Amino acid sequence: MELGETKTTLLINAAMSAVGFVVCMSIIPKFKDMFIKANLFGVDMSKTTKKKVPEALGVVCGAVFLMILFLFIPIPFYKHLAEISENNNDFPHDKYVEYLAALLSICCMLFLGFADDVLDLRWRHKLLLPTMASLPLLMVYFVNFNSTTIIVPQPLRFLLGFDLNLGILYSLFMGVMAVFCTNAINILAGVNGLEVGQSWVIGISVLIFNFIELSGEQRAAHVFSSYFMMPFVSVTTPLLYYNWYPSQVFVGDTFCYFAGMTFAVVAILGHFSKTMLLFFIPQILNFIYSVPQLLRVVPCPRHRLPKFNSSTDKLELSVVKFKYQELSILGKLYITIYKTFGFIKVWEKKGKDKQYMECNNFTLINLIIRFLGPLHERTLVSIIIVFQIFCSMVAFTIQYQLTLLFYDK
Ligand code: UD1
Ligand code: MG
Repeated sequence: MELGETKTTLLINAAMSAVGFVVCMSIIPKFKDMFIKANLFGVDMSKTTKKKVPEALGVVCGAVFLMILFLFIPIPFYKHLAEISENNNDFPHDKYVEYLAALLSICCMLFLGFADDVLDLRWRHKLLLPTMASLPLLMVYFVNFNSTTIIVPQPLRFLLGFDLNLGILYSLFMGVMAVFCTNAINILAGVNGLEVGQSWVIGISVLIFNFIELSGEQRAAHVFSSYFMMPFVSVTTPLLYYNWYPSQVFVGDTFCYFAGMTFAVVAILGHFSKTMLLFFIPQILNFIYSVPQLLRVVPCPRHRLPKFNSSTDKLELSVVKFKYQELSILGKLYITIYKTFGFIKVWEKKGKDKQYMECNNFTLINLIIRFLGPLHERTLVSIIIVFQIFCSMVAFTIQYQLTLLFYDK
């Protein structure tokens, strides 16, 4: 596609995204009562009032996002569609299928995320759902690109050669990417505005990256990604507005899955998975820190969000209580390492028989409270969002400065 044509389609996409913004801004409040009536609500655990907050409003944004992209389908292909009637056969079926498969995967994820919110599924399902939803995408990737070869970074070339065919491992990596993106956002949660806030920053970062790369060799891939990221950011902004402290609505797992899958889709089809992972630095840190609890090596309560102290109106460390002696060797090892490095606060000899140990839950949110002390919810979420922005800057530095050391430009 010519640069001029690209600009026109991007402008049309931007205009449709702007409409999406206005629509979401006006319809989210109207859906609040409907969700509560349908029993889709949660109680904000960090407030004194125990009023019902409508949950899973991410489905509204996801639906608007899909509508924008469904209406947008003919636009990038308008020239070819006009020529079809003239029996011209150079229609780019591969690109068309890619676009549709991307939408199918996001649509599936939105549906499965909503099912999770309604049915409150178990942990193992949370791993299975994104895997299933990413299959249409992986199949199209396999057929279209049929290449599972990667360029080896400069310092490793003496060992592995210039490029390396990863075969099935590559597909596995992409499947894992979908599972990771969806769940990583979902477990960095529990304070007002955090799920959407982090996704919003990642979305803007990806969009900036796409715009920078529009003049590069991979323009088509970045144009494709922009088609998805512009509507994503525009439907996410109103949700952030309504979900920000004090939350009028909760976004639900629906939103986390929808956001994560959108990121995975553009990263996979745009061939920038590594860069996308750079934008996920806070989520990766939170995930690595959480591993002992996610694998149940150390007990993991249903909710790990920080504990609200109503007398100070601040959030404090949330804790998990267990008998140290009953932990596996690995569990004891983790506790020892985390304690030695000061990553957790530990209270020993707790409970009536003094046999229990307590330590804070292993989340980035708790880690921040561990170092800065109790914080007001709005301050805490702002700190995490600023950290996310800082990490995006680090990501850009790595992308544009350090890669010169590892790859020849
Ligand atoms: C994930 C986290 C869990 C955390 C929860 C909070 C893991 C393994 N799971 O679980 O530790 O407690 O997210 O979202 O890390 N809520 C608030 N304030 C908010 C957001 C949510 O009080 O700003 C509460 C509400 O009661 C809401 C509920 O959390 O109804 C939603 O939790 P849900 O998204 O179902 O939890 P998970 O994603 O399973
Ligand atoms: Mg959740």
